[in-house]
Amino acid sequence: MSTIILGIESSCDDTSASVIKDGFLLSNVVSSQAVHESYGGVVPELASRAHQQNIVPVVHEALKRAGVAKEELSAVAFTRGPGLMGSLLVGVSFAKGFARSLNIPLVDVNHLTGHVLAHFIKEEGAENTQPAYPFLCLLVSGGNSQIILVKNYNDMEILGQTIDDAAGEAIDKCSKVMGLGYPGGPIIDRLARQGNPKAYTFSKPHIKGLDYSFSGLKTSFLYSLRDWLKEDPDFIENHKEDLAASLEATVVDILMDKLRKAAKEYGIKEVAVAGGVSANTGLRNAFHDHAKRFGWNVYIPKFGYTTDNAAMIAMNGYFKYLDNDFCPIELPAFSRVTL
Ligand code: KG4
Repeated sequence: MSTIILGIESSCDDTSASVIKDGFLLSNVVSSQAVHESYGGVVPELASRAHQQNIVPVVHEALKRAGVAKEELSAVAFTRGPGLMGSLLVGVSFAKGFARSLNIPLVDVNHLTGHVLAHFIKEEGAENTQPAYPFLCLLVSGGNSQIILVKNYNDMEILGQTIDDAAGEAIDKCSKVMGLGYPGGPIIDRLARQGNPKAYTFSKPHIKGLDYSFSGLKTSFLYSLRDWLKEDPDFIENHKEDLAASLEATVVDILMDKLRKAAKEYGIKEVAVAGGVSANTGLRNAFHDHAKRFGWNVYIPKFGYTTDNAAMIAMNGYFKYLDNDFCPIELPAFSRVTL
C-alpha cells in the first residue's frame, strides 16, 4: 500500500501545503503574503490572519493537484517550529483537526530539518541526485545561518551558527538602508549582477571556530554609506549596482570561509545549501566554484525549495512516518526550537 503524506507549513508568511506519495512529490502549493511589503518586514498579526484565510484553499488545491482524496492520506505532517507563534498555531491547529477527523497519525516537523531535507524531495522524471550521509549543510535564511553536520535524516548537529544577525537579515537590513524594497535579498541579487563586487570593501568578522556574525557588516555598510552620502547625496542611486555586488560578495565570502573550514575539519566533501538565501546567484556560483576547486559534490536546491514550502515538511514527515515517529495531538507549537 502507498504512503501518502500531506505536509503543512505556516511558520512565517507563506501558507503552503504539499502531497508526497512514496517519497515522490505530487503537489506543492505556496501562497505568499504580499500584505507585508508596504511595512518593510513581516507583521506577525497580519501573517496569522492571512494564514487563516489561506490554509483551507491551499490544502484543497494541494490535494486537487495531487489527484488525491483526503481519505487516501496516511498522515498529516506539520511545521511545529521554529517560527512566529501566531502563524504556527494556524497550521498546527489545522493539521491536528484534519488528522483527527480522518483518524490518521500526526507527524511534527522541525522547520530547520525540513529545509535540510528538501534535498531529498524526488520528482517524477527529474534527476533527483541526493546527498550521501554524512554531509554538511549551510542553512541560510532570514532567521538562520548555520553549518549543520547531517549524519542522518533524524541526526543533525550544528557545528557553527550566527551569534547575532542571520545572513538574510543582514542583506534585508542593508537593502532597507539603501531604500530598496522588501525582501531585500532578491533585489540585491538582481542589482549585484550588474555591479562590480570589488568596488567597495566592508568589514568582515573575526569570530573563532565555525560561528558566524553579520551585525558588524551591517554597521560597516551603514557607516560607509553615511560618509559617502555626505559627499554625494545621490551616492546610492549612482552606485547601487556596485554597492549590491560588493555587499553580496562580502556575505558570500563570510559564509564560504567558514564552510570551507568545516569541510576541512570534518573531512567531508558532500556539501549542501538550503534556506531562502540559497536562492542567491553569487552564493550558488560560489558553490559551483568550490566544487571545481576542492572536489566537493555540491547540492543546491531548486528555487521553489529554497524559501518556505510544505514539500520539505512532507518529505521530512515521510521519513518520520516510515519510522513510526508520530506525535500526540496535545503537542504544542514551539516558536523557538533548535535542531
Ligand atoms: O527561508 P526563508 O524564506 O525564510 C526564513 O527566513 O525562514 O528566507 C528568507 C530570506 C530573506 O532574508 C530574503 O531576503 C532571502 O531569504 N533571500 C535572498 C534571495 N532570495 C531570498 N537573499 C539573497 N539573494 C536572493 N536571491
